Amino acid sequence: MSNPMPQSLDQRRYAPATERNRTAIGAVLAAHLPTSGTVLEIASGTGQHATFLAPQLAPRHWLPSDPDPTARESIRGWLATAPSETLYEPLALDVTQPRWPTQVSTWQKSLSTVPPLAAIVNINMIHISPWAACNGLFAGAASLLPTDGIVYLYGPFKQQGQHTAPSNEAFDRSLRSQNPAWGVRDLGAVTELARKHGFELVEVIAMPANNLSVIFKAAKS
Ligand SMILES: C[S@@+](CC[C@H](N)C(=O)[O-])C[C@H]1O[C@@H](n2cnc3c(N)ncnc32)[C@H](O)[C@@H]1O
Repeated sequence: MSNPMPQSLDQRRYAPATERNRTAIGAVLAAHLPTSGTVLEIASGTGQHATFLAPQLAPRHWLPSDPDPTARESIRGWLATAPSETLYEPLALDVTQPRWPTQVSTWQKSLSTVPPLAAIVNINMIHISPWAACNGLFAGAASLLPTDGIVYLYGPFKQQGQHTAPSNEAFDRSLRSQNPAWGVRDLGAVTELARKHGFELVEVIAMPANNLSVIFKAAKS
């Protein structure tokens, strides 16, 4: 009798877009992340980015997270296909909950070998969640990251209040029809919010399919 597939593998979800954007995202991260430390990924989704990016970005460590239990099951499934000493089991983090930075600190304290947090990576979340999630992301990042720590955002953005492509405009309409609190964010509004939390905009990089990589750095206090 053949071995049944381990249950964790059965839980894997698959998002085709991750295979189209992961190489370009990896190149930007390799060039802009601090060269050591732990990268916290907020909203890891399926876990495909984590398993692809963590080995590529070693010796940095990679901590995935997602508030959705089915996403965390999927992340565990993908992790099982590519176990690595620098890639951790996912945390249940919801950035609209004020306790999320404490959850990260508690996790860090529970593991003596984890390097200090150096960056937060957030791919395709702030337009598929209320504005409170963007605020919670930067509020928590401010309390967790050291000076020069990086926040990396990836996704579609408006610029000067305008959509940058008809496809983004259509996507925005579809998001808002699903949930009026969702929608493609304006880069200026995100930058202003980040600034209020002590982050300066470092670089904006055009990515395939009318997306942007946006890099913020924790300014000196
Ligand atoms: C479109 S998926 C993106 C997943 C993955 N980053 C990717 O690009 O494939 C959006 C993700 O954001 C997560 N999310 C939504 N609200 C969140 C919140 N308040 N805090 C953290 N993650 C959240 C969802 O659970 C979901 O996994």
